[in-house]
Amino acid sequence: MFSYYGSKSKIINYYPSPKYNRIIEPFAGSARYSLKYYENQCWINDLYSIIFDIWRWIQNATMSDLEKIPNLKKGDDLRNFDLESDLKKLLGFAVNYGSAFPVNLYTNWASKSHEIETLKKKLLKYIGKIKHWKITNYNYLDIPNEEATWFIDPPYQHGGYLYVENKIDYTELANWCLSRKGQIVVCENSKADWLPFTTLKRIQGQASTMTTEVIFTQ
Ligand SMILES: C[S@@+](CC[C@H](N)C(=O)[O-])C[C@H]1O[C@@H](n2cnc3c(N)ncnc32)[C@H](O)[C@@H]1O
Repeated sequence: MFSYYGSKSKIINYYPSPKYNRIIEPFAGSARYSLKYYENQCWINDLYSIIFDIWRWIQNATMSDLEKIPNLKKGDDLRNFDLESDLKKLLGFAVNYGSAFPVNLYTNWASKSHEIETLKKKLLKYIGKIKHWKITNYNYLDIPNEEATWFIDPPYQHGGYLYVENKIDYTELANWCLSRKGQIVVCENSKADWLPFTTLKRIQGQASTMTTEVIFTQ
């Protein structure tokens, strides 16, 4: 939906399909897995409050909210537009490609009209269609153990420090993953050793370096 550091947008089609109608993404970020199966009973959760605010805004947005997103022209300054604060957070991600946090409003927004148009098109596709989702702002440890497809994409063991919320005990997380009821899909990259991961796909990471995405399923 929006650009985010660690988003699975480029490789989402390589992950197994859900076996359960209930999908739980405890580390949702831009929630690429739930979006792919948005008609399912999705529960997205993220401890980062800005991510939570953005998803609540998207869930409740109407066509008239989308019409308020300005078509920026050269010379326009977004500070002159009266926008809701949660929408500003969403726009802040849309124009800050692949970042773990939104940019503030003191950017050269006029040069970002393409990114804002792209965001609008994506919003248009999902508007009114995710009202049935559950969206929460918990620490992952506080999510009850329901039978579901668990798509678990935590901050990487090596590299996850860029997230605003990044304090993970990986031994505790491994035990928590293994105790989930239902189908488990865990994402990491090949440097991780907290579960017996296998190779999923080699992709281009940040700064043009190649990285290998790995997976653990059960
Ligand atoms: C790798 S990102 C998820 C990316 C997502 N799969 C996507 O496609 O955009 C990991 C997310 O975990 C969140 N997070 C970090 N610690 C957390 C915790 N203890 N509980 C819940 N979420 C947490 C971060 O805020 C971040 O959004």
